[in-house]
Amino acid sequence: MIMKYVLGIDLGTSATKTVLFDEKGNVVCSSSREYPLYQPKNGWAEQEPTDWYNAAIETISDVVNKSGIDKKDIVSLGISGQMHGLVMLDNNCEVLRPSIIWCDQRTGKECDELTEKLTREKLIEITANPALTGFTASKILWVKNNEPEIFEKCRHILLPKDYLRFKLTGDFATEVSDASGMQLLDVPNRCWSQVMIDALGIKEEYLPKVYESPEVTGKINAETAEKTGLSEETLVVGGAGDNAAAAVGMGVVKEGKAFTTIGTSGVVFAHTDSPVIDKEGRVHTFCCAVPGKWHVMGVTQGAGLSLQWFKREFCTEGTNYDIMTAEADKIPVGCDRLLYLPYLMGERTPHLDPDCRGVFFGISAMHTRAHFIRAVLEGVSYSLYDCVCVLKGMNISPAEMLVCGGGGKSEFWRQMLCDIFAVPVKTAESSEGPALGVAVLAAVGAGLYPSVEAACETMVRYNSGVSSPNSEKTALYMNYHKIYKKLYSDLKDTYKDLAQV
Ligand code: XUL
Repeated sequence: MIMKYVLGIDLGTSATKTVLFDEKGNVVCSSSREYPLYQPKNGWAEQEPTDWYNAAIETISDVVNKSGIDKKDIVSLGISGQMHGLVMLDNNCEVLRPSIIWCDQRTGKECDELTEKLTREKLIEITANPALTGFTASKILWVKNNEPEIFEKCRHILLPKDYLRFKLTGDFATEVSDASGMQLLDVPNRCWSQVMIDALGIKEEYLPKVYESPEVTGKINAETAEKTGLSEETLVVGGAGDNAAAAVGMGVVKEGKAFTTIGTSGVVFAHTDSPVIDKEGRVHTFCCAVPGKWHVMGVTQGAGLSLQWFKREFCTEGTNYDIMTAEADKIPVGCDRLLYLPYLMGERTPHLDPDCRGVFFGISAMHTRAHFIRAVLEGVSYSLYDCVCVLKGMNISPAEMLVCGGGGKSEFWRQMLCDIFAVPVKTAESSEGPALGVAVLAAVGAGLYPSVEAACETMVRYNSGVSSPNSEKTALYMNYHKIYKKLYSDLKDTYKDLAQV
């Protein structure tokens, strides 16, 4: 039998990465392209959809050419992407404005407007989540309130990866996992909510058709085939939001399994067979990429972003993340009493606060740059631990944690998470989390496997090394975590004052 191949495309916040896998989940080759994030105001975050498209075309053609594999054997592709971003197209399918992306925090007023109109209870009943600044619905309302001339012209509303699908295939389609983060989906019933559509003053025809994640939504169009070297017969499956995709790429497809990822954002994700909802809305409940199943996840807005920001602003040319973590490793737990709150872009879990911002607390003249780096790593880890604590309160207490994402590649950071979470930490053999996840979905869509779970059994493998928690360090970290938690409550009102200045 001739080996078949599948492509996974991950449209991230800092770059798009395309990976070609064989049907057993082995990487053949990969390519990535970076693009800018625009922050025109404090708390705003935008990207250009054309940058995503160009990066996808370049990276797909790169891997197709490099691999030398007959295009007929690349049977399908899946797209994963940063969630929640708003892409609006006009009547001619042209982009109307830059995309307002997931970490943008400008929509506080619009969230209040949605909550007043529908009530918090109704929003949670339908969308499984309270109105949140990061989600797409409040971004649509912001455009309606602040740029009515653009809202008037809007005829199509898409998520980042679904805009890319449209460009690659010509089809308007999405799937349940990413659509869950729009706050337009009836999450328990996995379909668009008419109540939400009416509340925003849009029409259902503006929204793409909703599929389950491994379902085929179409094929590559002639223009894409010509630009990339793919065959026009290449199938495109629903794919998934980046976290639901990473879950599949880590084999987190059954009750009891969980993972933490540290990308630009950080996430603690647990699979659930039914829609479990936190009444306080501190963690999100979304459909997952396994048909008919859900997940809960807590989100830290500024995880890898914190380290990336620190490196960009305070480290010398040529400093890389390995050098930074090696410096941090020389500093004791607690950084000689220096703490960092990672709220550079506001925070979701557990505070749901668009106005809070980052803090270094306890700075002394004895502190070095290495102390600050370690404080950033610890602060992000405490924030992820806050997510774990909310899940525990919902009776979701995974016995072990898988770790992935750029931050998860650092053994030092993984051990820190392990000591703070106080559970064993493991990694998958492939570090391609979301790209592998959508490649698994693509393999299922192409009929290479009967189900997502069956495909994971072959395509996802684990490293044998497991980190075990060090109880002495856990106790030390917990002392600092108490102070870390208190700092937010102490500053909560002052953050509001700062946002008003
Ligand atoms: C999840 C979230 C982020 C983005 C970017 O709710 O906003 O994880 O998907 O990665």
